[in-house]
Amino acid sequence: MKLHSNPASPFGRKVKVIAYEKGLIDRISLHVLQTTAVGPDLGLVADNPLGKIPCLVLEDGAPLYDSRVICEYLDQLREAPQLFPESGPDRWDALRLQALGDGIMDAALLVRYETFLRPEALRWSAWVDGQLDKVHRGLDRIETVDASGFGGRVDIGTIAIACALGYLDFRFATMGWRETRPGLAEWFETFAERPSMQSTRPDA
Ligand code: BEZ
Repeated sequence: MKLHSNPASPFGRKVKVIAYEKGLIDRISLHVLQTTAVGPDLGLVADNPLGKIPCLVLEDGAPLYDSRVICEYLDQLREAPQLFPESGPDRWDALRLQALGDGIMDAALLVRYETFLRPEALRWSAWVDGQLDKVHRGLDRIETVDASGFGGRVDIGTIAIACALGYLDFRFATMGWRETRPGLAEWFETFAERPSMQSTRPDA
């Protein structure tokens, strides 16, 4: 299988963490690329018309996207460890947490594009602040509602949250998200040591 991605992409990282946790990483060859809405990678576009990473090309040439679809595909390739709970409240909680982690990544990426890619004269600071508010509200909710129940839990929900935090550390190092979220910070310190997280660090 071939994975179109970029080491900086938190959504690409989520897919790679799942592949490591499932023992499938050796079956995936990485195609590292740069792509933006204004300069899409043509090889990627041939597989994903949206021009978005990550995109996984299966052995028969069939493309899969987005990261949610790829992660669930990888999870069902092998029984253990099960990273998408089968059914019931555990499944909905894991999927909700994935949506929260993905939403934090989406908002952070939009800020990154706005402040790095967009020409300075066209930047809209109120819009950037609105995206950062989403990030902070999401982190506050995880701190007050979710983090105390994480324990040693490893599933699509906790993996998505960890990849979101990893992206904040990578691109928003001065944000100081830990200062008001000690529970989340303590959990992430341990989770980030997993080999799947260490091997996929964007700065490695
Ligand atoms: C980044 O440089 O932050 C980045 C690059 C590719 C995809 C997502 C993020």
